Amino acid sequence: MNQSAFKAQHLDQASSLPAEVYVNKAFAEWDKQVVIKNSWQLTAHVSQLQNQGDHVVHEVAGIPVIVVNTGDGIQAFYNVCRHRGGPLAMKNGNSKTLMCKYHGWNYHLNGQLKSAPEMQHNENFNVCDHKLPEIKSDIWQGFVFIALGNDVPELSAVYDGIAEHIKPIDMSQMVFCRRDEFIIDCNWKVYVENYLEGYHLPHVHPGLNKLLDYKSYQTELKQWHSYQYSPIENAACDDNPYGEGQAHYYFAYPNTMFNILPNRVQSNQVLPINAQQCKVIFDYYYPKLPADALAKLIEQDRDFSDKVQSEDIGICEAVQKGYASGSYTPGPLCAKRESGVHHFQELLRSAYRN
Ligand code: FES
Ligand SMILES: [Fe+2]
Repeated sequence: MNQSAFKAQHLDQASSLPAEVYVNKAFAEWDKQVVIKNSWQLTAHVSQLQNQGDHVVHEVAGIPVIVVNTGDGIQAFYNVCRHRGGPLAMKNGNSKTLMCKYHGWNYHLNGQLKSAPEMQHNENFNVCDHKLPEIKSDIWQGFVFIALGNDVPELSAVYDGIAEHIKPIDMSQMVFCRRDEFIIDCNWKVYVENYLEGYHLPHVHPGLNKLLDYKSYQTELKQWHSYQYSPIENAACDDNPYGEGQAHYYFAYPNTMFNILPNRVQSNQVLPINAQQCKVIFDYYYPKLPADALAKLIEQDRDFSDKVQSEDIGICEAVQKGYASGSYTPGPLCAKRESGVHHFQELLRSAYRN
């Protein structure tokens, strides 16, 4: 593709990205190599890793990883055995060691091989020579992130200022409660861009639009993240499960969102599957509450969130068809309402230029 498509653009004159970026297979692979691998990927929350031996499995752009409480801290590894590539765990759980599910090679929690069935008959085989390669990891506000590539900013720089801004909310004190996953027929960037603007609210989410004050909807941009907010209106109305307060919507480049509302935090991860499909993971976190109060909150929340999500899925899948139609050429962005989309596209352009 002509590299001039990836020159930096000013918001006032910005156009969206070319359709190929959303439909082309080679681009999907490029996204994985230059964007996803060289960024912090949300993998777990400390409430899932409280005890020694607790582990969480995850996949980032098809790459299997495992995050473990080793007793000395939290470490991340490829979930790939050194023998013939088997998985050390198939699901989240707790175990004293990590035993490969294929032939039973058994690793200490720190990744060092401990034993391997019948391998003592091999000349020169020594368990000390085999260790799982570690993946760089870091923790912010209780969330455990991994970075598969080397070209990543500091995690603290990506989330700079957010912890101070959301005080007194402290997400490290919340508890992981449930996960919803959606396979969506659109490129991962279509879903991200839809998240990054409130321009579509009146048209796609008339119900949500009643709760939020569209006129006051604002977007602020930082180097690696953007922030959207709107006061919650009509707190007294029956279908508002959130109570009064402010809704904070944070997006951290390239594919992580934190939706922070009173008494509820939801993280979203948008993971590419291929050029025209992505997986979106919603994880819900709540403060430590009595079980009945928590159950009520979750139920209200699920009903409301599911409606908004199905509206977003519908429009994103339609947009994907639009990009794949062969008719689309880059259109101008709305400077007032789409600065978050522009911010994301500028970070992408910069990654594509390098
Ligand atoms: S692949 Fe792990 S023990 Fe064989
Ligand atoms: Fe939406």
